Amino acid sequence: MRFAFILSLLKTILVVNFVIAAPSGNISDLKPITNWQKLANGVYVSGLGKTDKLYRYSDLAGEAPKIAALNKLTDTPLTKALKNARYRLNPDHKIMVYIPTEPDEKIYGYGLQFDKTMRSGKVIELKVDHYSKDGGSTHAPVPFYISSKGYGVFFNTAAYLKIYNQVCNRKDSQALPQEVDRNPPADEKQPGPWLAVPPSDAVEAYVQGDGIELVGFTGTSLQDIVARYNLYSGGGAMPPLWGLGFWHRTPASFSADETEQEIADFKDHNIPLDVIGLEPGWQSKSYPCTFEWQKKRFPDPATFTQKLLDDGIRLNLWVNPYISKHARIYKDMYPLSGSHTVWLGIAPDYMLPEARKVLLDQHKTDHFDIGISGYKIDECDGYDFWLWPDHATFPSGTPAEVMRQTYGMQLQRMIYKELYQKNNRRTYSKVRASNGAASNYPFVIYSDSYGHDQYVTGISAASLGGILWCPEIRSAKNSREWINRMHTTCLSPMAMLNAWASKTKPWTYEESTDAIRRTIQLRMKLLPYLYTAFARYNQDGIPPVRSMLLETGEAKAQAKSETRKLDSEVDPYGDGFHQKITEDNTLYMFGPDILVAPFINSQIERKVNLPSGNWYDFYTGKLAGNGNTIVVTAVQTNDMPPLFVRGGSLIPMLKAPVNRTKDMRGAAIEIRHYGHKYGSCQLYEDDTTSFDYMKGNYNLYEFSVKDGELVQKKLKQDSDSFYSGFELREMTQ
Ligand code: GAL
Repeated sequence: MRFAFILSLLKTILVVNFVIAAPSGNISDLKPITNWQKLANGVYVSGLGKTDKLYRYSDLAGEAPKIAALNKLTDTPLTKALKNARYRLNPDHKIMVYIPTEPDEKIYGYGLQFDKTMRSGKVIELKVDHYSKDGGSTHAPVPFYISSKGYGVFFNTAAYLKIYNQVCNRKDSQALPQEVDRNPPADEKQPGPWLAVPPSDAVEAYVQGDGIELVGFTGTSLQDIVARYNLYSGGGAMPPLWGLGFWHRTPASFSADETEQEIADFKDHNIPLDVIGLEPGWQSKSYPCTFEWQKKRFPDPATFTQKLLDDGIRLNLWVNPYISKHARIYKDMYPLSGSHTVWLGIAPDYMLPEARKVLLDQHKTDHFDIGISGYKIDECDGYDFWLWPDHATFPSGTPAEVMRQTYGMQLQRMIYKELYQKNNRRTYSKVRASNGAASNYPFVIYSDSYGHDQYVTGISAASLGGILWCPEIRSAKNSREWINRMHTTCLSPMAMLNAWASKTKPWTYEESTDAIRRTIQLRMKLLPYLYTAFARYNQDGIPPVRSMLLETGEAKAQAKSETRKLDSEVDPYGDGFHQKITEDNTLYMFGPDILVAPFINSQIERKVNLPSGNWYDFYTGKLAGNGNTIVVTAVQTNDMPPLFVRGGSLIPMLKAPVNRTKDMRGAAIEIRHYGHKYGSCQLYEDDTTSFDYMKGNYNLYEFSVKDGELVQKKLKQDSDSFYSGFELREMTQ
């Protein structure tokens, strides 16, 4: 009797609760986000649900947020969208976040994408994987977007995320598009075209877990917003100077002798070289890996490495994280690894300090102590059939999905913080997976896909999310493409020829060798300018190589949209979106003042839509245009990359090219001036290899021109100047 009573009471409670809790589906069911906390100027944090056990990307960042630098920027308030954001905690351990958008608002970002940077109208699932078009799977699926309305949102959680960017309309939306009859009688007029994907008025995100942290960014421009994201992530990466020189990765099974011969061949061809990358064959076994030297190919690694160092050449080692039974550290690592193998190697759990110690002890003795400069950390990015499954377990208790989203970051953190930074030596390395709040890591992403246009788009996309991208050159269909690809890599964060499979050399196409040499020499001459741009990335968060979106600050210059005509037979839903959006990502900025308009594939002529303001031809100093479309040809540029300089700019460059960055010390600088107005430029110097710059040990100069003379202002002088002298070169007559 009593039992029956309790049961009926329970039922009533459940039913009542159900009725009360049953959502109407209206926006008002969602809770307003009212707990934004100001962390620094323009940076606002909100924790939703349970956040104590959250795996946050920011916990894996290279440095803490640069609060002082942020607070020097304008104090910008929360925007309307962030104030009106809402959320809902679902009982099934999922959270949805709702951030309203305006009709003409555009959404950009989400890390390294190769198709375009605009994500309006896309549903994306952010997952670390090899790149796949439109889907959100990519080597660096950074959960950070920026809006053309002047704010940014960072989903600071390493859970899988699905984000609906202005698609899927709510039934009670105030901005529902008008219904259109798709098959109207002939005499009925419709208010517009039928749209397969009617645009919605919000970004809605769906997150697994009981809690999430959102970080909202506001600022005075899109560039400023991205800079604040980078400062929040610890400031941008600061590579050693040698890392910005030219890299060559040798064929997979090269020996020490073959490598030395290759270096000699570079000398014979008078081609700059700073770093040699050894591919898998340097190890006794791969894949899975031993991390030990293959003694048949490299009988004396210490002497070999030192000989190269004496010649100013650094060595970088290819690895993947999965450990072979033949490795010395296998036994110790076995209990510290996950339940599943990857390529039959154990997958260490680097959330555990003991696991990091096992690996780092070995790396330090076998690599670091003999002078190895860094790594190329491969295969930390999927596919599903290569990586551990989502139900794998790891001894630290970290969920497998979180491991997947963060593995690349865990590896970067370990190598950078606990090996290189701990021993006060900088590295510039490569990694194939990264994620949110990774701006501070001096690791550059690369990919196995190889579309030239995709590689150029990657430069812009990466710059919106604190990622450095290397559009490496591997092979080409002809000598023209070879030249064009070399242009792209030399005007990117890392200039690299990766010949691991192609066995190519810079001089592979004999007829193009002169243009190739001049292109790499141009890279070397621009290093004072590029190194300074990296210092600004580090201190001010401004990406050194970046999308035009961060320059013009408006979507208009970047994207054209046109309504698609539906073809019911072959394309009944208009490619899934109502508008075909064409974005021009073939232009980007290299440092603060040089606009790059690369020739793609085998192009020898292209149109360039110059932004407003006077732009000058880099080589001749002549006015190229102002807000108009021009045509540039390879004949005009003498096979060099089309480059345009902002009017009034001063560009600090080496007067003569060098073949090694070590030869930059004591070199003469020319400061090129373009146009008739005079601006100013900065020049940054430090010891080029240690972390002493973090203690303030660096020089920073500002150059301007007065009465035709160069004026050098020492903003900070810590030691003797790195260069021998500075002279002005007027480029525009
Ligand atoms: C690939 C990598 C290539 C090369 C190769 C060596 O996964 O993307 O760049 O390193 O491995 O086996």
